[in-house]
Amino acid sequence: MRQIDATATGRPSTDTAKLIIGNCVDVMRSWPDSIVQLTVTSPPYDSLRDYQGYDFPFGDIAAELYRVTAEGGVVVWVVGDRIQGGRSLTSFRQALAFQEIGFSAHDVMIYQKKNTPFMRSNAYTNAYEMMFVLSKGKPATFNPLKAPTQRNGLEMLPHNKLSDGVNKKKLGELKKEKTRTNIWSYAVGLGGTTSDRIAFQHPAVFPEKLAQDHILSWSNPGDLVLDPMCGSGTTGKMALLNDRRFIGIDISADYIDIARQRLADCGLAVAVETAS
Ligand SMILES: C[S@@+](CC[C@H](N)C(=O)[O-])C[C@H]1O[C@@H](n2cnc3c(N)ncnc32)[C@H](O)[C@@H]1O
Repeated sequence: MRQIDATATGRPSTDTAKLIIGNCVDVMRSWPDSIVQLTVTSPPYDSLRDYQGYDFPFGDIAAELYRVTAEGGVVVWVVGDRIQGGRSLTSFRQALAFQEIGFSAHDVMIYQKKNTPFMRSNAYTNAYEMMFVLSKGKPATFNPLKAPTQRNGLEMLPHNKLSDGVNKKKLGELKKEKTRTNIWSYAVGLGGTTSDRIAFQHPAVFPEKLAQDHILSWSNPGDLVLDPMCGSGTTGKMALLNDRRFIGIDISADYIDIARQRLADCGLAVAVETAS
């Protein structure tokens, strides 16, 4: 397979927009160390869906992700558990394994689904997946996304009690916005996950807003964003629309073709390669 373009500093060239058909372990093994600033990806969950005969060697994928991630780089691993009787807890096992190989568990975030949650007869309706934010060292980039505050402007605000015990108030300013919480909610399905009908030819698309929110948070324009199991190309679409470079890998040629077509429909040209 052709190596990704790399300069003497190990950084891929500035025009990277690529989809690769192949097993992501083999593809990443052909790359230099520490070239990826951000990975946003979602693995197959506990054989929940039939993804055209995939091979999912978790330990090898995690090790290669660690090696190719730049110092200060981040991997966002979006994962749910199989629920059959009880929960498989695969998500937690994977998170602990990432920590053991050297990643810092920078945050454990929740992807809440606003609609089509999974009903259970003997437990509360399941409406979320985990988003493990794993960093190699301290994250080099954090561009916090903001949410509007409930109230803003000048108000009489309580301030520390003095020794008389009276809770005095003084005029202060409430800000218009604050850093968002680590629970992110998205509508799912057509119009929520994406409006790109072609994406739904893949069985497990995550919301493009979810991908975009992580891309904006943990990377800067020009950075290299990877999705080693890119499915319908959601991470790639949002990375390229936000001026990042992108490499997507999927073991299925059919899914890579869906991703290529989806990106082309959005005016985003990508090179397609097959790993040998
Ligand atoms: C949950 S889906 C990803 C969906 C994607 N986030 C999207 O929005 O369309 C997981 C993908 O991993 C791919 N896959 C599984 N094992 C793989 C491997 N070893 N290398 C590359 N891709 C793999 C499957 O073909 C499937 O498309």
